[in-house]
Amino acid sequence: MNIPIEKVIQRYIEKNKKSMQLYQRAQNSLAGGITRTSTYFQPFPVYMERGEGCMLYDVDGNERVDFLGNYTSMIHGYNHPKITEAVTRQIQKGSCFGAPTEQEIKLAELLILRVPSIERIRFASSGSEAIMFTLRLAQGFTGRYKIAKIEGGFHGSYDYALMSMHPPLDQVGPVESPAVIPDAVGISPAISEQMVILPFNDQKNSERLILKHKHELACVLIEPILGAGGIIPARKEYLQFLREITRQYGILLIFDEIISFRVRLGGAQEMYGIRPDLTTLGKIISGGYPVAAFGGREDIMALMDPRSGTPRIPHSGTFNGTPVGMAAGLAAMEALTPEAMDRINQMGEKLRTLITETFKKRGVKAQVTGVGSLFNIHFSTEEILDYRSAQRGDMKSRNQLFFSLLNRGIFLASRGLGCISTAMTWEHLDRFNTSLNDALAEDMGY
Ligand SMILES: Cc1ncc(COP(=O)(O)O)c(C=O)c1O
Repeated sequence: MNIPIEKVIQRYIEKNKKSMQLYQRAQNSLAGGITRTSTYFQPFPVYMERGEGCMLYDVDGNERVDFLGNYTSMIHGYNHPKITEAVTRQIQKGSCFGAPTEQEIKLAELLILRVPSIERIRFASSGSEAIMFTLRLAQGFTGRYKIAKIEGGFHGSYDYALMSMHPPLDQVGPVESPAVIPDAVGISPAISEQMVILPFNDQKNSERLILKHKHELACVLIEPILGAGGIIPARKEYLQFLREITRQYGILLIFDEIISFRVRLGGAQEMYGIRPDLTTLGKIISGGYPVAAFGGREDIMALMDPRSGTPRIPHSGTFNGTPVGMAAGLAAMEALTPEAMDRINQMGEKLRTLITETFKKRGVKAQVTGVGSLFNIHFSTEEILDYRSAQRGDMKSRNQLFFSLLNRGIFLASRGLGCISTAMTWEHLDRFNTSLNDALAEDMGY
């Protein structure tokens, strides 16, 4: 049956009355009723009560398999015994102090061991902050101010990052020279003037743009796997080209691995065999707490060194290296063994195969992109290589599928993003596929 989306949303409203009431109440205190843009969708977001393993339970008593994992962070699901134990132990000793603890050294040592390009590391409280400090390091180290970033690349809320992250397709300009479009009001036009926007996976045009600004560019900032832009892996040759051209002109190469770190123990840079100058990490490294990190070459990170007086780049943050987050992160990273990593990667591969077969069997003009435990559904048959090709997909069908799956006990991002957690079994993949089949057949007319 092909049910209008309004009916599918009506079913969502009927099954989520308490969420609706909470959202109505929230609008009187929180701006727009929420406190994080990405958790909102119309007509109202679903309010969670608790999570256990890979299951989520909302305030209306609906149970769903969590394929979102707080936007790919919860790699071990909820209430993992080792993480809960580590956190409880730390809380009893004190949640944070105005002094360092051994916990931060332990997590730093583990991450440095796993990611050879990170010679020195620092912790922050959010990925946005990690990006902010990384860009400042690049500008401070090179003495240059221009930043090249990828069209459709998402790097959080810092001014330089909120550029052409989600530009409307009718404003993006020619692919030879993508327009610089701020994603928020309130950013000084002086920032836009410092930006160079590169088309993802497009060597010819990226090369011309980098060469044009080669003496002014501090860095090229890239997610090796475009995350919010649609889980689109970079071509290896594209990353190799970026590595070579940046090295040639003294431009720093920054990998934002805040999402992609979950594809290998050493992140996407291990998978591609490419060593960036600086890297940002977040999401999975914290075991579910507000922790991110940035690091890289020792000579660059030395700008933050306080040993010979005031550091050239001060790094403040009341909750930097917060012991509870460090303890949780350490437990999470230790539980992410090579076997656990292989298993979720294989499960991701299997789920993408199941989804592809289902789309084929039902004649749906859609596809799934992804790497390892990450995936994204696109209602499009053209090859998805960059932000523009992803955005040309049928967003209305994607939105309808999101609600249809939500009504059938599957939690994904409304933009079609999903991931696997170590708490899942192969049966959860079958459950996803059955729900997908039902949603396509019963709600979408396939
Ligand atoms: C690739 C990437 N970079 C940076 C960020 C910003 O991180 P945060 O939300 O912790 O500020 C995100 C968040 O989703 C991200 O996906």
